[in-house]
Amino acid sequence: KMNAFVSSLLAKMTLDEKLGQLNLLTSDMDVTGPSIRASYKQDILAGRCGNIFNAYTPQYTRQLQELAMQTRLKIPLLFGFDVIHGHKTIFPIPLGEACTWDMALLEKSAHVAAAEAAADGLHWTYSPMVDIARDPRWGRVAEGVGEDTWYGVQVAKAKVKGYQGTQLGANNAVLACVKHFALYGAVEAGRDYNTVDMSRRQMYQFYLPPYKAAVDAGVASVMTSFNEVDGIPATANKWLMTDLLRKEWGFKGFVVTDYTAINEMINHGVGANTYDVGNLALNAGVDMDMQGSVYISEGKKLLDDKKITIAQINTAVARVLEAKYKLGLFDDPFKFSDSARAAKEILNAENRAASRDIAKRSIVLLKNEQQVLPLKKSGTIAVVGPLANDQRDMIGTWSAAGDWHKAVSILDGVKAQAGNATVLYAKGCNILGDSVLIKKLNAFGGNIELDPRTPQQLIDEAIATASKADVVVVALGETCGMSGEAASRSDLDIPENQRPLLEAMLKTGKPVVLLLSNGHPLTLTWEDAHVPAILETWFLGTEAGNAIADVLFGDYNPAGKLTMSFPRVVGQIPVYYNHKNTGRPFNEANKYSSKYLDVANDPLYPFGYGLSYTTFTYSNLQLDATKLAPGKTLGVTVTVTNSGSYDGEEVAQLYLRDLVGSVTRPVKELKGFQKVMLRKGESKTLHFNITPEDLKFYDKDMKWTSEPGDFTVFVGGNSRDVSSADFTLLEK
Ligand code: IFM
Repeated sequence: KMNAFVSSLLAKMTLDEKLGQLNLLTSDMDVTGPSIRASYKQDILAGRCGNIFNAYTPQYTRQLQELAMQTRLKIPLLFGFDVIHGHKTIFPIPLGEACTWDMALLEKSAHVAAAEAAADGLHWTYSPMVDIARDPRWGRVAEGVGEDTWYGVQVAKAKVKGYQGTQLGANNAVLACVKHFALYGAVEAGRDYNTVDMSRRQMYQFYLPPYKAAVDAGVASVMTSFNEVDGIPATANKWLMTDLLRKEWGFKGFVVTDYTAINEMINHGVGANTYDVGNLALNAGVDMDMQGSVYISEGKKLLDDKKITIAQINTAVARVLEAKYKLGLFDDPFKFSDSARAAKEILNAENRAASRDIAKRSIVLLKNEQQVLPLKKSGTIAVVGPLANDQRDMIGTWSAAGDWHKAVSILDGVKAQAGNATVLYAKGCNILGDSVLIKKLNAFGGNIELDPRTPQQLIDEAIATASKADVVVVALGETCGMSGEAASRSDLDIPENQRPLLEAMLKTGKPVVLLLSNGHPLTLTWEDAHVPAILETWFLGTEAGNAIADVLFGDYNPAGKLTMSFPRVVGQIPVYYNHKNTGRPFNEANKYSSKYLDVANDPLYPFGYGLSYTTFTYSNLQLDATKLAPGKTLGVTVTVTNSGSYDGEEVAQLYLRDLVGSVTRPVKELKGFQKVMLRKGESKTLHFNITPEDLKFYDKDMKWTSEPGDFTVFVGGNSRDVSSADFTLLEK
């Protein structure tokens, strides 16, 4: 039912004014796609453009809003932007932040981002990105939470709540936009913008639930994906946008395309010109055209030719106006453009503290032999590597409004917390060699400057520095432009020019700690075999260096757990924990079983993996019953003991396997977790509940149901190292 204010406004609008509300144009600030329409300011003045993105700050949004106030009906502009992991206070990249396994914190970072964005003139963020991804070559894995559906559902809910708060219209909430609908994370070969092909079962079971969770949480908008879904580009896909999204899921907000996604359907080959593709998008149920201007150029003709109806246009316009109404923009179009508020609320000490707290909890300890970590705050520490004295990279991909000058480098963080220790520094090598990659990155604004010294000179300096130290911390990995949009890689090794530095540091005989900054899971087989201590630090945001120092010195005991498997080699991809068993599961003794000749099947570091400075042991896994009546909940208990010598947190994970189904089922599926703090020597008994919903799946008739039979419950500190117990779901 249409809101009365919106319907009376709609009644006054001309067709051109209506089409203007369906048009979203980029300003010339921080452009995030292939084109700019230079006339965007005239478009606003002429009522041809009701929405703007890539424009922020109270001053600039006020200036543009004033143009909208000069139009006949004074309909306020909606300002959108990619506030992906923080606005000015940058939080860890989403793939890193996901490793906290802490939904309250994930909600909190979204809330801080929303409050800063709203204080900076913005109304709408293009987040959360909830695309499930099993291919770490895809650059955009950095923006999501990895491979697991159930976990993705929890994060989608937390993020929508964090951005939108309890009431849209509050001055610290923005509209969220779940993206990229749908299946964008399954692009073939991990190459961005590539084709997707997937069965309906796979979609419903593994890829669609996080988008649906965002819709159920009340997300205000949905962004279409660039890829095709079952042979039809998402932006033209009526089944997806109308039958599924609106009719099946009951979505009430508005749908926006991705950047020029309507126009790109000519390249996809489903229309010969903008008239054809505009027709497809409007009839699919896509409300707003991002940057393509197709609805402006073709809307009237499509209506005159009766390809679309005025009722369709009215519905789309009403959805957009309703969003503006909920934000309170008709009462005060300038309510988010307040300079005094921006100065107080953006990048303040409180927000930086929240970022540091989440950043330290995002770090994953991958290896710690001979207790190299934590470091002592005495003696001499050499900090070397191309990422050691680097602020620019710390804020990671899609930190659009973030200012890297405000970020804390690893070196500065270590120096600030080193106590009595002396800290030495050497660069050791460039981030990349003089390669094709560096040329490509620089051609698109990478700003990678090479140190003019030769590789040998750089290494010699690092060796001399390391020889004076008691321990060497080597900061290696990717530059931030090596992940994110249009940044897929075919090779997931640490750039090859960095290896000689690591080898040289190991050769000094000093204990070595490898600090990794990266936006994809990397292939770390060599490093795992040779380096005693490895910390995965992702790109941690504004407070990166401080958070890393918190963990290095043990002021915080790391507890992060991976949410995406780290392959041993790229040839294993896709490698993910919730795979199917196959008819010939791996069996060492059987030649004709599913395997590679040259590498194991399992990843190097599995989903859910992460160490601590202490150790945890699991014992006494017990089920309430071994027979479960349908519709009943099963209690599971397990005792977790801190068996090491530090206090610490552990993420206890519960997985299920349905042993026989009418369709094949994964070997394990995450269904619950608990993050607990245990003092050294302390034990706690954890209680989980397996609900009837946890046992359900899409059966052979695509019905969401459970089937009687045997199940296995697994509990452990990662998806590989688990204890198990069995139960039977009864028929009645
Ligand atoms: O929100 C993004 C999207 O994820 C990729 N293309 C550009 C959009 C707007 O910047």
